[in-house]
Amino acid sequence: MERHVQTLLNKLSVVCITIATIIFLFLILQTPQTCIPTTTHPRVRLLRFPKSSCDSSRRDYVPFSKKNERLWSTRDWKKKVNSYAQFFRSLRDQRLLSNHSKVLCVSAGAGHEVAAVSEVGARDVTGVELVESPPLVSRADPHNLPFFYGAFDLVFSAHLDEALFPARFVAEMERTVRVRGVCVVVVEECGGDEMRGILRMFKHSVFVSAKNVTLIGLRMTQIIMRNRNSS
Ligand SMILES: *[C@@H]1O[C@H](CO)[C@@H](O)[C@H](O)[C@H]1NC(C)=O
Ligand SMILES: *[C@@H]1O[C@H](CO)[C@@H](O)[C@H](O)[C@H]1NC(C)=O
Repeated sequence: MERHVQTLLNKLSVVCITIATIIFLFLILQTPQTCIPTTTHPRVRLLRFPKSSCDSSRRDYVPFSKKNERLWSTRDWKKKVNSYAQFFRSLRDQRLLSNHSKVLCVSAGAGHEVAAVSEVGARDVTGVELVESPPLVSRADPHNLPFFYGAFDLVFSAHLDEALFPARFVAEMERTVRVRGVCVVVVEECGGDEMRGILRMFKHSVFVSAKNVTLIGLRMTQIIMRNRNSS
């Protein structure tokens, strides 16, 4: 009788252990619901952000050089850089830019303008943006530039329009450009009061010129201001 109970108990524990093991394995192999990618759209999958906070899947490391090779060989990249280069050549022709100029591009995005400035011949060019894109663009807040007063000969931005605090953005451009250096901004095509509003933000500069230009296929207005001696 006792032997019988013993056998029964043994069998019972084997069954229990088996069930427990199956549940355990199931829990280990099961992907938590929140980690399942919500999309399989090919374009979205190119973004290699974590799919959720608990995404621990291995992400391939693509070296910058390889990523840049891919980006810089696209037709869109070349077209935009050519357009910017043409723009900077016109600044060079006006003697506002030379091979020896120290140039800063604010809110430089992926760095089209930085590449263009180099192409035109200026060797000392810096690009900054909230999100870095090495090696052309480093990370810095346009509203709080990590550069000394008067560090640059020319400060350029094609993204004043998108600035969160335009007056602060302009103030930082003026602060980092040297006395008699120039700030060049390209904004959505404008004139009249709109333009005067932009000019008023430059508190330490004198107006040099403004004209409508076509840049990267868009109708834009280019405004050039020269930093004056007093501040
Ligand atoms: C400026 O640099 C470019 C490219 O590096 C060169 O072709 C050009 O001759 C230089 N211009 C001057 C005035 O030195
Ligand atoms: C640019 O073009 C617009 C529309 O044609 C015009 O109103 C504006 O005055 C022009 N701006 C400049 C600086 O020429």
